[in-house]
Amino acid sequence: MTQNTIAQTPKHVAIIMDGNGRWAAAKGQSRSDGHAAGAGPVRSVLKTAHRLGVRYLTLYAFSTENWGRSSEEIDNIFSLLDQYIDKETAELLSSGVRLRGVGNLDKLPPSTRQALAEAEKVTAQNQDLTLSLALSYGSRAELTQAARDLARKAQAGELDPEAINEDLFGQSLWTSYLPEVDLLIRTGGDKRISNFLLWSLAYAELYFTETLWPDFGEADFLAAIADFQSRQRRYGRA
Ligand code: FPP
Repeated sequence: MTQNTIAQTPKHVAIIMDGNGRWAAAKGQSRSDGHAAGAGPVRSVLKTAHRLGVRYLTLYAFSTENWGRSSEEIDNIFSLLDQYIDKETAELLSSGVRLRGVGNLDKLPPSTRQALAEAEKVTAQNQDLTLSLALSYGSRAELTQAARDLARKAQAGELDPEAINEDLFGQSLWTSYLPEVDLLIRTGGDKRISNFLLWSLAYAELYFTETLWPDFGEADFLAAIADFQSRQRRYGRA
C-alpha cells in the first residue's frame, strides 16, 4: 500500500441520487413510480453505510432547481419524503441514526417541515451516523446566505472583517455541522456536481456510475467504497 492510499471507510459520503425518471420511463411507468422505487436504495445504502462505519451520509433529495418541476411531481416527492420520515423514524432511532434536514427548509411544505422537525428531535441524541436529507438545497444559495450573514454582523460592528477566515465562513453555512465530504457518488450517468455541497466537496473523491438510482444496490455501494479505498488523496501535496 502506498503511503497515502486510503484503507479506511470514508467518514462522510454524499450522494446525488439521479435517474429515477429514466428508470421509470424505461419500464413504461410514471416519474412518481421512479421516485417511489428510489426509496429502496436509500434504505439499503443507509444500512450498509452504517455497517461499514460511515459517520455522515448526505443525500441530495430535492434541489433548489427541482422547484421548477411540475407541481404534481413536487407534491409526489414530498409526500414520499413524509412517508419515509414517518415510517423510518422508529428504526433510525433504535439503530443509532440521527436524521437532519439541510437546505432552505422554510420553503418546504408544512407537513414535511413538521415530520422532519419531529424526527430530528427524536433522534437528536443518536451518534453512530448522521443521515442528512438535502431539501430545497443549493450550494450557491447556501454560500450567498453565509456571506450575507457575515456582512450583517460586520455592519453591526459585531465582527471584524479581518477575522473572517475559512473556519468562520464554514461555520456560517447550513452544512456547518458536517465534516468535509470524503466521497461523492452520483448515479444516473451524468458527471456533474449540480450545485451540491460546493464548499465541502473541495477535496472529495468523485465517483460516477451509469446505474440509475432505483437500481443502485448494496453491491454498487460497496464498489464505490472499494474504488474510494484504492485512491490516493494528496490534498494538493506532492
Ligand atoms: C433524481 O432523479 C431524483 C430526485 C429529484 C428525487 C430524489 C428522491 C428520491 C430518491 C425519493 C426517495 C428519497 C428518500 C430520502 C426516501 P430524476 O427525477 O432527476 O431522474 P431523471 O434524471 O432520470 O429524470
